[in-house]
Amino acid sequence: MILADVRVAQGEALARELGDNAEFVELDVGEESHWARVVARAEHRFGGVDILINNAAVLVMAPLEETSLSDYERAVRVNQVGPFLGMRTVVPGMKRRGGGSIVNIGSTDGVFPGDQGLMAYGATKWALRGMTKIAAVELGQHGIRVNIVNPDAGNPLIGRPFFPPEVISDAKLHELGNRMAYRVLKRLRPDRKRVDEIVPMVLLLASEDGSACTGGDYPVDGGYSAGMSGLAQLLGL
Ligand SMILES: NC(=O)c1ccc[n+]([C@@H]2O[C@H](COP(=O)([O-])OP(=O)(O)OC[C@H]3O[C@@H](n4cnc5c(N)ncnc54)[C@H](O)[C@@H]3O)[C@@H](O)[C@H]2O)c1
Repeated sequence: MILADVRVAQGEALARELGDNAEFVELDVGEESHWARVVARAEHRFGGVDILINNAAVLVMAPLEETSLSDYERAVRVNQVGPFLGMRTVVPGMKRRGGGSIVNIGSTDGVFPGDQGLMAYGATKWALRGMTKIAAVELGQHGIRVNIVNPDAGNPLIGRPFFPPEVISDAKLHELGNRMAYRVLKRLRPDRKRVDEIVPMVLLLASEDGSACTGGDYPVDGGYSAGMSGLAQLLGL
């Protein structure tokens, strides 16, 4: 398994923790040449890429009128150009190998215009859903499946740049992350970390168990994207 991220120290530490079958390669997803290097390394070490998980993203939180062009372009570069380059770089090898699975990580912000202040981030996640379906239709005949998982929560610290520590602590951000989910469904497994509820869906789609799934949107959001109860909203629940 190749792990790839801009955070080199954390990536190398995680690869060491995972053992001999994991290797870290530095990757800025917006850099075409970095993708070529990652795929070359995967081919050399593992014979090719069977599964690509496009997970990297940056959060930009600002309403339309307060979103600068540079912030908008930063979100597009990481969240949209990144998966585009990733998919484009792995597909020739997947075709040669007779198939593969690509799982893009979207967000409920690409499904449902729930919260204000997500003009740039939301736009990239809506785009990623479209890119997923277009790629799925193009690549199906080559046995390459392309799907998107849309969680409503992940690492609550993704919002840290927008909430100074003196205003909201890490612990508070984690608590809010937990509470934000489950606005529809009663939380059935409060003992589980949110990320542990997302990973099984990603693994299902990545693996042969998902052999009939392509072009799909898979919400992991406690029912949030299905809609909110009007009464619950009125009551502020
Ligand atoms: N955190 C949430 O509330 C939430 C909600 C819904 C969906 N998601 C999605 O889940 C996915 C994972 O996010 P997370 O919650 O784990 O947040 P996170 O910030 O922990 O993870 C994002 C990762 O992307 C990496 N990254 C950023 N820019 C990069 C670049 N240019 N090149 C390579 N890597 C880069 C970061 O270093 C980080 O490791 C993202 O696609 C995100 O949009 C998150």
